[in-house]
This record gives sequence, C-alpha cells and structure tokens, in this order.
Amino acid sequence: MATMSATTATPSKDLASIEKRVTALLSKMTLAEKVGQMSQRDGNDGFAPDYLVDALRAGRVGSVINAVDVDVINELQRIAIEESRLGIPLLIGRDVIHGFKTIMPIPLGQAASWNVDVVRDGASIAAREAAANGINWTFAPMIDITRDPRWGRIAESLGEDPFLASKLAVAMVQGFQGDDLADDSTIAATAKHFAGYGASESGKDYNTTNIPENELRNVHLQTFNAAVDAGVATLMTSFSDLDGIPATASQFLLQQVLRDEWQFDGVVVSDWDSIRQLSIHGLTENDRESAFEAVTAGVNMEMHGDAYRKHLEDLVNEGHVPLARVDEMVASILRTKFRLGLFESPYVDTSAIVNGNDALAVAKRAALESVVLLKNDAAVLPLSADTINSIAVIGPLADAPYEQLGTWTFDGDPALSVTGLQAIIDFVGDGVNVTYERAMETSRSRDTATFHDAVEKARDADVAVLFLGEEAILSGEAHSRANIDLPGAQAELVRQVRATGTPVIAVIMAGRPLTLLNILDDVDAILYAWHPGTMGGPAIADLLFGVESPSGKLPVSFPRLVGQVPIYYAHKNTGKPPTPDTVVEFDDIDTRAPQTSFGMTAYHLDAGYKPLFEFGYGLSYTEFTYENIRVDKGEIGLGDTVTISAKLTNIGKIKGVEIAQLYIRDLVGNVTRPVKELRGFKRVRLDPGQTATIDFQLHTDDLAFYGRNMQLMTEPGKFHAWIGGSSETDLRTEFRIVDQD
Ligand code: GLC
Repeated sequence: MATMSATTATPSKDLASIEKRVTALLSKMTLAEKVGQMSQRDGNDGFAPDYLVDALRAGRVGSVINAVDVDVINELQRIAIEESRLGIPLLIGRDVIHGFKTIMPIPLGQAASWNVDVVRDGASIAAREAAANGINWTFAPMIDITRDPRWGRIAESLGEDPFLASKLAVAMVQGFQGDDLADDSTIAATAKHFAGYGASESGKDYNTTNIPENELRNVHLQTFNAAVDAGVATLMTSFSDLDGIPATASQFLLQQVLRDEWQFDGVVVSDWDSIRQLSIHGLTENDRESAFEAVTAGVNMEMHGDAYRKHLEDLVNEGHVPLARVDEMVASILRTKFRLGLFESPYVDTSAIVNGNDALAVAKRAALESVVLLKNDAAVLPLSADTINSIAVIGPLADAPYEQLGTWTFDGDPALSVTGLQAIIDFVGDGVNVTYERAMETSRSRDTATFHDAVEKARDADVAVLFLGEEAILSGEAHSRANIDLPGAQAELVRQVRATGTPVIAVIMAGRPLTLLNILDDVDAILYAWHPGTMGGPAIADLLFGVESPSGKLPVSFPRLVGQVPIYYAHKNTGKPPTPDTVVEFDDIDTRAPQTSFGMTAYHLDAGYKPLFEFGYGLSYTEFTYENIRVDKGEIGLGDTVTISAKLTNIGKIKGVEIAQLYIRDLVGNVTRPVKELRGFKRVRLDPGQTATIDFQLHTDDLAFYGRNMQLMTEPGKFHAWIGGSSETDLRTEFRIVDQD
C-alpha cells in the first residue's frame, strides 16, 4: 500500500519479527478488542456511516467490506489508527474476481487460455487497480471444482479439472499477492469457497453437497492445497452443507485439513452471514450456538453477520470457548495485517497515477487466448476484409458493453468496453459495409416478429456474424439454470438467418457451457467467447479476421443434453463402460427388442456417453498432428521420473498455437482411478510445416492419489499415457512403476 506517513517498514517476509509483534500486540488487547478483530463490518459507497465510525473508535472492527471510495477508505483507516486505543489498521475487502476497473474474461474464460502467465498478469492488473482504490484484500480466486454447467458459479470457477485449475489458481494468487504482500500494488488473496461448493446438488446454488472423503481429497481439495502451498493469505468458507456439516462449522475442513495437515497460518473468513446461517441449516439453535461452532471449527473472521460480536465474549467469559482459541484466531488476523505492511503504510496515496495503458493490453491478450473455436466448417473463418464487402452483425450481445463483462464486476467500467460491433467496424474501416440489427431486446426474448430486418440484412450480406448467448446476470451467484440452451428464440433467429443462405458465424458469450445441439447444424462456425471482458470486442475482431488464430481449449465439458450432467472427462471406468458398439441410436430402437439385447453399459439411450465438446477441445485456423509418442523408460521405480514425448506438427498453411496436453491413467488402484487425468500441458507456437518434440517429465509423486485409508500414495503398476490436443486423444503409450524392494 502506498503511504502518506511512512515509517520503517517491517519486511512482510520477516516472519520471526512479525510473530514477535503479533504476540506483543495480542498481549495488550482486551477480549472486546480481540472479538472486534474477528468482525468484518459493511462499508458504504461515499461516506462512513455512524455505526461504523463508533465501532472503529471502540476498536470493534477488524475489517470493512464494500467500502469503495478511496477517500472514505483512507478516513476509515485514519479513525481506526488514530482514534482507537490500539490503532490496529483495517483489512479492506472487496470482490475483485476478474478485474477491478479493467475487466478480464470471466475466470472460466481465462481458464480456457490454459495460460498461467496471462492469468497471473490479469490478477496483477486487478490488484494494482484495486490497491490504488484502497482495497487490500480480494475475495478471489474462486477455485471450486465443478462439473455442472447448470451451476451459475461455474462462471467464476476455473473449470472441471483439479490439475489445470490448481495451476491457474496458483497463478491468480501470485498475481494478486505478488512477491511481497506489503508492496503498494499487491493485495491479499482468498481461496474460496472451502470446500466442495462446486458439487451443489442439481447445480442449484447453496445446495447440499455429499462428497465422500476420497473424492473430496482427490478432486475438490486439490486447488485449495495448491493455493495454500502458494502462500494464499486467506480462505473463505463455503455456504454449503458438506456431508451434514456446513463448511463454516466443519472442524474436519478448517482444523484437521487446513491447520493440522496443511499448516495454514492465515485467515479463514466466513462467507456472507454464513455463521448465522448455521441455524438455518439446522445445525444450531441460534446465533450463540453458531458462534460457538464456527470459532471452534476455526473461522477467524465473520463476514457481515453479528454472531461473533454479540456472543463470543460471553462464550469465553462463561468458559465455553477457551480464550486461547480466540487468541489463536486473532493472531492470524494480526499476522496477515503485518504481512500486508498495514501497520507501516495503511493509507493510499491518491495522487499516485495507476497507469492503465497496459491494463487494456493484458485484457485483450486474455480475451484473445480465452476464445475457443468450436466449429469452422469449410474454413469459413478467418474472414478476409479483402474479399468480404458486407457483414451483417446481429444479436443481443453484439453491442452490449456491460454484458460482455460478465458476472462479479462490481467496479468494472462498461465505458471502457469495446464491443464486438464496434471492433468489427473499427477493424474493416470504410472498405466493408457493416450493418447491424439487435433483433432481440434480450437473450430471452421470444418475439420473432423483430427478426425481419435482421434476416433481410443477413440476406444482403456476404456473411452474418451473430452475437448470441446469455446476459451477465444469467450466471454467477444464485443464478443457476435448469435448461442451458440458448435462451429465448435465439435458435429460431439462427434458423431464419441460415435460411437466407448467407454464411453464419456464431460468437457466443455466456457464463457457462450451453447446450448447442439445436443450433449446431445451422451455423458454419462457432467462436465461444464466454464473457470476454473489457476488450472482448477487439479480441473477437482479431480472431474473426485472422490477425491471430484461436488457441483456447475447453476447461469444462460441453454436454449434448443437460440430462447428461454431470459429464466430465476424468470419470471412472465403471464395471460396464460404454463403447461405440454398445451404443444404440435412440431412433433405431426396436420396441420388441429383448430386454438385454443392446446397451447394458453406462450411457443414455437418447444421448450416448460423450459430451458434445470434450474437455481440452479447441480448433485452430491451422491443423496440428501428433505422432511418435514414446517414453524414455518403460519401467521406473518409486521416486523416479519418466519422460513422455511426442512429435507435434503444424500441417496447415498458417502459424498457430497448440496447447499440447498430457494425460495418464493408473490402470489398477487401491481405489478406482479415472480413465484419464490431465498431468501436463504446454503452449507451442508452430509455423506452417514446423515440427516440434513435446516432452513432459512425470515424477512418481505426480501420480499420487488418496487411497482407501486417505493416505496420499503412489502405487506400483501399469500406467497409460497420452499426448494430444484434447482429452479424447488416442495417441497412447505406457510405462510401469515397479516395486524395487
Ligand atoms: C457472496 C459470495 C462470496 C463473496 C461474498 C462477498 O455471497 O458467496 O463469494 O466473496 O459474498 O461478496
């Protein structure tokens, strides 16, 4: 944080000195002041409310959420520091999820870039802009693993795969926190929502989760473990009930896993009022019992609610909660504040200019690499401004500066957005006639009478570019959908435009995978742009006209039908795995067929067993081939490393970037193991005709999993390994781990 009154700063990495300062300060604090540190109070836009000022003076506030006026924030800090007994500075928290003023693609879109550098840069820009506005704590990254596109919060997630999501989660933590938390352009990050939230039943938000410990450890805890290992400053508990115990009261999660196993010494903050919600869940009778459960489990700070500030002192004074437990909770809060350098430099220098020039460049790069080319029949893309004379731009999301930002953009500035329509006009200049029809008031409009002008403009154009999808409000928290088709009459609009005979390019903006079967045959190409953020338009224009070739790969599976959900690549084999020859075409079923005459394997009669587009899938304007996969050693011992390599060639006519992926399968395990698991990925830029050898090093520790007894283990045995451009690659080799005893 920049400072108005600098003193000698304690380097945030001088941990021994910080521990001494924590102990010294704690010894001076009254119980009331300690409980105050455990309370996060609501701020306001534009002024400091009296209730907050009084509480600050009384030393009863540890953090403020949702204060966003930098002068008000500086005033709140001043009151806390100069007008309270001990002058402990405040954590100023805000949801800076994928950008502050400059908005990056939604995290699910960033995940499609598979680019840790792009993701880290985006978080770094967000931290810089937020810090300059007085924020010193963001409630991001959201790193819940989910395989359910009905869930609105899939938009904030990094997708279905623990390996990819862990790499990107670490990159976000590094971007937000930098190398030094005390730096004036870095802020504390929050790994959320701990844990298992992405498994909410039916994809309904806040819903029940029942996750066996083995699945919890092998799938849902991986990203949090990686974030803690990367030094994330805080975690946030999930709203959800995990196996009968809401996460906010889970001693298993917060004490056994987080503190005892992972040795986490930072702050756990509840989610919004999730402590008081324990009685709504039915775990407690009242707020007093909820405060007891949460502090016993290990929640350091209460967001928004007042269970702690109303009941913790009594619970300690009556002997129900040891004072030592409160001291432990407060120590982590103070430690985090020391590490942030808040005692030395709590104020924001409002005269500091936050250079925004590179922010837009980072946002455009992120958008460019997040877009996934799902279809490109007859190489209709890229368009050429030399051969195209007219373009009809159509749809409710073509010129929607707010919508393209996506969910969780409290402080995003739509005025900075460049829309798809504007970017296409800017790109082609005067040489190409660009027409535009919104055609639908919103994505959910069902009135087809408004289609006429759009259809006629498409008929008169050389190509129609349809911007379709769902508005930002249709994904995100509490915004789950049971039907994930394109909303409204969009499919009909596609059909009518298709009927003109003009080539149809669909650019889809959405906060989730949508089911696209009902438009797939009516479009020549699909660019899936997620919600691409501030610079989504220029990125899409560059891709439409081939300035760059799409390189994005899906971080999540796209179902054919929503009834297939959950559908994901790293599934178990089951005892009756489907194969093409066991799958019958629904329309071909003979109603008199004997009961056991077909199928009898794990698939849906009316959908088969494959997604429409698989995890890791994404086309390019060029074409890549993989061959000659090999291992350097057919057998390795525990502790050894095997190198798996293959040759990748660009057999197309233009340069491109391919994200080469490594998958493995542990054929026999102490518990059943997935049929494939991502264990490596690399971005490779190749010119036409160029070949590169792609190699991945795998240590036997990289093959570890939690077994029957919840111990992390790597077992001797046979492994398959694949390298390819998606999770459905069939280029396979194998190796064995041998027991050397
Ligand atoms: C919300 C979300 C959480 C967010 C918090 C503060 O309910 O679940 O992710 O950080 O409240 O806005």
